[in-house]
Amino acid sequence: MKKLAAEKALEYVEDGMILGLGTGSTVKFAVEKLGELVKKGLSIKGIPTSIRTKKLAESLNIPIVDINEYSNIDLTIDGADEVDSFLNLIKGGGGALTREKIVAFHSEKVIIIIDESKVVKCLGMNFPIPVENTKYGWQATKKALEELGCTAELRTIVGETYITDNQNYIVDCDFGRIDEPDQLEQDINAIPGVLENGLFIDLVDDVIVGSNQGVMSLEKTRLIPDNKI
Ligand code: 5RP
Repeated sequence: MKKLAAEKALEYVEDGMILGLGTGSTVKFAVEKLGELVKKGLSIKGIPTSIRTKKLAESLNIPIVDINEYSNIDLTIDGADEVDSFLNLIKGGGGALTREKIVAFHSEKVIIIIDESKVVKCLGMNFPIPVENTKYGWQATKKALEELGCTAELRTIVGETYITDNQNYIVDCDFGRIDEPDQLEQDINAIPGVLENGLFIDLVDDVIVGSNQGVMSLEKTRLIPDNKI
């Protein structure tokens, strides 16, 4: 399902584009396909959102450029952990949320690729909000996050504290169902020590969903079969 969605998204790629390359297992399929297209002569420049994606793209000979030199990104293809009917997202399961949000913000068009398990009625129902924090004062920051009404947990990976590509920590914040994600995004980011959070509000143009029925485009509030896109 992830591969189906990834391959559909590649249909939006045109010669000469500056492409934002997201992070995660769904995006991996898209980057691999992009590598095949580059090998066949497609000329694009990629801006990766993580060290992981950068290494993958380089291994496939996809040209990589710096966002500081190319901040007018034509198209970004990225994954998500949850998508609601307004095409707002929770992202950051792979820890790359800050770079992903910067790249999405500077993109003309953002396409999200997911399998159908990621579609939710309301954000927060299945996935906590990842919040990237400075190491300095992280416990105080975590306490301030909890005061917003969540259960917060420092992210670890095989027993070690998880460190982001920006050398920070992630605290995963479970708020349960989130009724006002736009307000919550601002409230979280207003806490000193918070670098960024995984709520992506009003940043997305299209969501492509791989499902057992094929590929669907998730438009605001309804699913449309691929042959009607
Ligand atoms: C990484 C992300 C990913 O896009 C998100 O976690 C989805 O990953 P996957 O495609 O592996 O399910 O936000 O920070």
